[in-house]
Amino acid sequence: MSMGYVPIRNILPNVSPNMVYEVILTTKSRDGEVDAAPMGLKFLDDNLSRFLLRIYKETKTYKNLIEKRVGVVNITRDPAVFVKYLMKDKDKYLREEIEGSEVVDAARLKNAEAYIEFTVKNIYDEVSLANFHCLVVKAYEGVKIIKPYSRAEYALIELVVNISKVEPYLKEGLELSELFNAIAYCLKVIKKTATGTVIDDYSKILLSSLSENSSSLLKQHLLQSGIHLK
Ligand SMILES: Cc1cc2nc3c(=O)[nH]c(=O)nc-3n(C[C@H](O)[C@H](O)[C@H](O)COP(=O)(O)O)c2cc1C
Repeated sequence: MSMGYVPIRNILPNVSPNMVYEVILTTKSRDGEVDAAPMGLKFLDDNLSRFLLRIYKETKTYKNLIEKRVGVVNITRDPAVFVKYLMKDKDKYLREEIEGSEVVDAARLKNAEAYIEFTVKNIYDEVSLANFHCLVVKAYEGVKIIKPYSRAEYALIELVVNISKVEPYLKEGLELSELFNAIAYCLKVIKKTATGTVIDDYSKILLSSLSENSSSLLKQHLLQSGIHLK
């Protein structure tokens, strides 16, 4: 029996167009290779039919969206997923956690809480990134996960965001101390609220993903804040 068309507003009744949401985007290359990466998204209208992605040109996601002009927004609040798909060696996770999408040719993550399949309508170019204006093709629910609020989980997501900025900041010669302070704060929250847990393990995996140069700069900074990393 067909479920018929369900408006995206019914799937995401509490989502606001005035906020940036962090999601996992799944895309495919022209050759059929699947990619997943954390990206920010902002809806452009009240009924959530259109949204904006601002994507740096050096990413695989940018290349795939240019090539195929379709993708899937995977909605999840699991911070481990954000860690995994920021890693350089994310292929091992992709192999286990990807399945076919319903309408567009892009694949999706298993176990997301909801999905938005989309096409790219317009691309507005800037120097180092492009603005992709996207149209929702189909939105639907995935696996419902009920979990109480945990400071450690949100600190881990903030940690992923901050770690993802370290190499670009270094490349552009930007001041790192504010970013390093934010990383120190996230690590302190995780230490206080989730030692010896999966969250703790993922924060270590994340730190180990930095280049030798940025890792040693960060370690020096963290030592000054009383955090000793092995
Ligand atoms: C929560 C989060 C949000 C991010 N949002 C964006 C974004 O909006 N645009 C972007 O270009 N990169 C963003 N990034 C960085 C990309 O995820 C990162 O460059 C990633 O390695 C790109 O992977 P890819 O090369 O497989 O596309 C974000 C990272 C995190 C952790």
